[in-house]
Amino acid sequence: MAVMKSDISTTSDEYRRNASAYRERIADLHRRRAAAMQGGPERARRLHKERKQLLPRERIAALIDPGSPFLEFSQLAGEGMHEGVPPGASIITGVGIVSGRPCMIIANDATVKGGTYYGITCKKHVRAQHFAWKHRLPCITLVQSGGANLPDQPGIFPDEGQFGSIFYNQIRMSGEGIPQIAIVHGPSTAGGAYMPALCDETVIVRNQGAMFLGGPQLVYAATKEEVGVEELGGGEMHSRVSGVTDHLAENDSHAIAITRDIVANLGDIPQQRWQVAEPRPPRFDPNDIYGLISADPRVPTNNRDIIARLVDDSSFHEFKPLYGDTLITGFARIMGFEIGIVCNNGVLFSESALKATHFIDLCCKRGIPLLFMADVTGFMVGREAEEGGISKHGAKMITAMASADVPKYTLIIGNSYGAGYMSMCGRPMKPNAMMMWPNGRSAIMGPDQAANTLAMVRDEVHKREGTTWTEEEREAYRAPVRQQFEDFANAYNFARNIWCDMVIDPLETRNVMALLLDLAGRLPPKETRVGVLRM
Ligand code: COA
Repeated sequence: MAVMKSDISTTSDEYRRNASAYRERIADLHRRRAAAMQGGPERARRLHKERKQLLPRERIAALIDPGSPFLEFSQLAGEGMHEGVPPGASIITGVGIVSGRPCMIIANDATVKGGTYYGITCKKHVRAQHFAWKHRLPCITLVQSGGANLPDQPGIFPDEGQFGSIFYNQIRMSGEGIPQIAIVHGPSTAGGAYMPALCDETVIVRNQGAMFLGGPQLVYAATKEEVGVEELGGGEMHSRVSGVTDHLAENDSHAIAITRDIVANLGDIPQQRWQVAEPRPPRFDPNDIYGLISADPRVPTNNRDIIARLVDDSSFHEFKPLYGDTLITGFARIMGFEIGIVCNNGVLFSESALKATHFIDLCCKRGIPLLFMADVTGFMVGREAEEGGISKHGAKMITAMASADVPKYTLIIGNSYGAGYMSMCGRPMKPNAMMMWPNGRSAIMGPDQAANTLAMVRDEVHKREGTTWTEEEREAYRAPVRQQFEDFANAYNFARNIWCDMVIDPLETRNVMALLLDLAGRLPPKETRVGVLRM
């Protein structure tokens, strides 16, 4: 395979400016992650420890095999959304290896508002379930939750994708033979009680775990029956009397040991079906990426240089290098896994869309997973483009991409705007996972375009009604729109709303891709059935 060429200057002013700006972005990413890792306030964490309980991240660390990675999803969910709730939305989700088997781990963080579920918490739990479902990963839920966060009812109760979907997904996954396991670590009320009750196998911790549909106060209010927590829903009662739980543990560590045994008895571990080559580092230093990503939004990044720093041995078998060159397509390996790369290098033209369609088809026929590296402001507009049929060629690309039933991954490495976002496998196109680099940005259109478009609409209204507005009034109208679009496009806004799975440092990309591809390679291949391609 051909080794890429990449002739860059690491001493130029531009490189240095870019690198220094990017290091600030990375420091910002780590600050946000640190806030998420810490969990709830000091007071709540102390209380937790006084009860002789492990903190949720300590539980996860004890559950996964020594040395296992923990690929965390939606770590920054809900950042800044609710007063007193740190990034993470009172729950931790991610994939780790338990007794040699990849599992989805979902852990309530009771140090944050009693581990209760806001709307965004439900969304995060459901997203973790969907990933587990798609990859047939057993789900291990570490429960300690007061159930619904009552004031956030509209985000929790009535709709699909909210709390009820958690139950539905558990039931359907169990039905499809995807194991559902829970540990009841602490008081788990209402929805918090149904989650373990709906599992295949459930462990409860003595004198700590408790599950009931209504707690003692609620029972008293409803029936005047006076009953304590242990009697009403403690481990001893549920393990000996009600039979709601299957294993009684002495403490958190014991419960985790029992759970590891449960996972060890789930039958054969699905094996990797792809031939994974010996991983080779890129020939060009991935650290250069910081200096290559343009800090000036008006100056494009040469993404060929980026690919050269992400793929094994910087080797790339490029497909149609001379045709539709605003899109780079080709085969490479990342940490030994074969992958088909579709990467923007400019605006999408008809030729680039046709090339993408052809390339995606090749990957589907060969069963090779796809990585979409998005850096696109959109499709070409104008009379020439329309006469050349850009709508139907763009439609072909989107159809091929949405139909492709090989594992698909989206990495937003720069811009991802409008129809470009869709055609480069944006979230609605259901990639297996979607990541953003901290500089990643996505919106219907850019801030200036949005401000101009809305101002032009208003111009027309003035014209129709025979009124006028001054240039100052026009600018005063445009400025907040611009700001709103600017804020929206930010990678952390996507992370906060769980529109992407994670914001990653470019230097983490190879490892994250390897973990994701390892999971996908344990599934049987699927046949792609392509929607009609408009000719
Ligand atoms: N809705 C909204 N907020 C809730 C809540 C709920 N269902 N349950 C707890 N909280 C909040 C508390 O107000 C408190 O907020 P603060 O940090 O701002 O002070 C925080 O969560 C921690 O609660 P606290 O009771 O101090 O913690 P704890 O560890 O001693 O007990 C629970 C946690 C969950 C066992 C206990 O709060 C409880 O029983 N809550 C009611 C659960 C319930 O009935 N849910 C019904 C859902 S349908």
